[in-house]
Amino acid sequence: MFKSLYIHVTVVQVCNSMHKLKPIVQGFLSLEVMEGYYLHNSLLMLPLFCVWMGTLLLAGASPSTSSSITRHFHFNIEWKNVTRLCHTKPLLTVNGEFPGPTIAVHEGDDVKIKVTNRIPINTTIHWHGVKQLRTGWADGPAYVTQCPIQSGKSYTYKFKVVEQRGTLFWHAHLSWQRASLYGAFIIYPRMPYPFSPPIEAEIPIIFGEWWNADFLAMESTMIMYGSGPNSSDAYTINGLPGPLYPCSSKDTFIQTVEPGKTYLLRLINAALTSELFFSVANHTLTVVEVDAVYTKQFKTTAVMVAPGQTTNILLSADQVPDSSTRFPMAARPYVTAMVPFDETTTLGFLQYNGGKAMNSKPPPIKPCNISSVHNLPAMRDTPFATQFSDKVRSLASAQYPCNVPKAVDKRVITTTSLNLQDCPKNTTCKGFLGKRFTASMNNQSFVHPSMSILESYYRKLSSGVYSSDFPEKPPTDFNYTGVNPLNENMNTEFGTKVLVVPYGARLELVLQDTAFINVENHPIHIHGHNFFVVGSGFGNFDAKHDPAKYNLIDPPERNTVAVPSGGWAAIRLKADNPGVWFMHCHLEAHTTWGLAMVFIVKDGSKPSECLLPPPDDLPVC
Ligand code: C2O
Repeated sequence: MFKSLYIHVTVVQVCNSMHKLKPIVQGFLSLEVMEGYYLHNSLLMLPLFCVWMGTLLLAGASPSTSSSITRHFHFNIEWKNVTRLCHTKPLLTVNGEFPGPTIAVHEGDDVKIKVTNRIPINTTIHWHGVKQLRTGWADGPAYVTQCPIQSGKSYTYKFKVVEQRGTLFWHAHLSWQRASLYGAFIIYPRMPYPFSPPIEAEIPIIFGEWWNADFLAMESTMIMYGSGPNSSDAYTINGLPGPLYPCSSKDTFIQTVEPGKTYLLRLINAALTSELFFSVANHTLTVVEVDAVYTKQFKTTAVMVAPGQTTNILLSADQVPDSSTRFPMAARPYVTAMVPFDETTTLGFLQYNGGKAMNSKPPPIKPCNISSVHNLPAMRDTPFATQFSDKVRSLASAQYPCNVPKAVDKRVITTTSLNLQDCPKNTTCKGFLGKRFTASMNNQSFVHPSMSILESYYRKLSSGVYSSDFPEKPPTDFNYTGVNPLNENMNTEFGTKVLVVPYGARLELVLQDTAFINVENHPIHIHGHNFFVVGSGFGNFDAKHDPAKYNLIDPPERNTVAVPSGGWAAIRLKADNPGVWFMHCHLEAHTTWGLAMVFIVKDGSKPSECLLPPPDDLPVC
């Protein structure tokens, strides 16, 4: 035991020194690793050797894995001047980095992230996709599981990463702060990857958006006038827009690859307003994981990744480049909305190493034509998006079973709608038709209360920050996707309604898009649980016939589902994580407008089925 642990520490140090980590050993059985200064490097190439050795020896050192390793990080939230598209502006950052630092941990680790607020406004951070088993206090959505961290204050998010492995991300979870406060969250597995080609390196590819203007001011305008968001000025790959934007050739993501080697690309859509297509010129991509769950492998020319979703793909450097020694990679939106939209393309490059080229400097980047990335679907290619989503299946192996509930205790049908609210007298409204934009689930526009729902629930405060009457079906039956988008509409109700379910309940949620204003693809994200996408389709959900067609064998397991535009998706989950959980559209404007709800999972009967008590440093409102 001692010996293997010693070896493990050595390996961690070897690997860590390659990544500027600072391990500190604090005893034989409890290993504390300080990783607060783990610098994010968009060109980071993590040799599999480290992961593999670390994994192997970790498993040897602590078979039960429980509480053997605690990983510490320190996030300082601070302003930093950043320049893109020739516009310099102060940006909210973590430790001055944009995108923020990568958090890399192993399955089974305890994680402690101290977040210090060094800005004059409130903030919180959410670990998107981390299940937070019994530790809802560390989940992060403002006013749902915590009061915000106030200026000058700190809060340490403490949780354990249990039975999850793969690519996730973290982001701010208060107002539009996640426009710049985001980064990768990587969980290395304890067991070798269930795919075969040796991986030369693992490369996070985080998609984001850039606004030249102040997006927090834009959000205030939206709230004041009920208007929509301004289109972003650029999409970015690892914070870099690429040569198709003005002034941006120098801000281009370039990934060097060795011919013949295979790479694991960790795609993360951290954008706020847009589903994205991604492809690499001439290369076929192999999907192996979505939302930190392994999938059956499949080959594809392009990927559709919705905000809040992640996708791991294998890419083999098996093509022969021309004299530029590069192939472009590109991402552009999958557009289903009718409103004006950022219809631009972010470009990066695969730079082939080899022979002489290694010693000579690669040629400068020329603004290349987007048509060279001929794999990239057109921006309104719904058939591609649909057939891509339909190909995603859980691995469903003996080692990685697909535990989809075969029966359900409760089915909740909820519309996911955009709405127009009549303009109140003597006010100015700048939404569509001189009204206010709102959004809703079952006609309820979610309003954030002024204190944490979790705290209110836990402390049984009767002050009424929420009510437990979220409707389990739409207020009336109607032709959801067939209504006249402009004439028919429902003014929504505003409130903080939650759905309360007993511990262990097997839930089915049918998410039904509507045609109010217009049909649109909604990436619906659930906190605290993964779910299974058992069915989806266009038009209206048919409770009589559709369930018969569900996939209860190997449906994809995810934390965010892209509900088809003008269609529906049925998801199932076992509510086995006691606490208060946010569910919302990951298109930020839709959340601002109220396309969200909260569900509460009650404690079970055993102590291990109960929410843990709140930490001492929990922020106060
Ligand atoms: Cu990634 Cu509630 O969010």
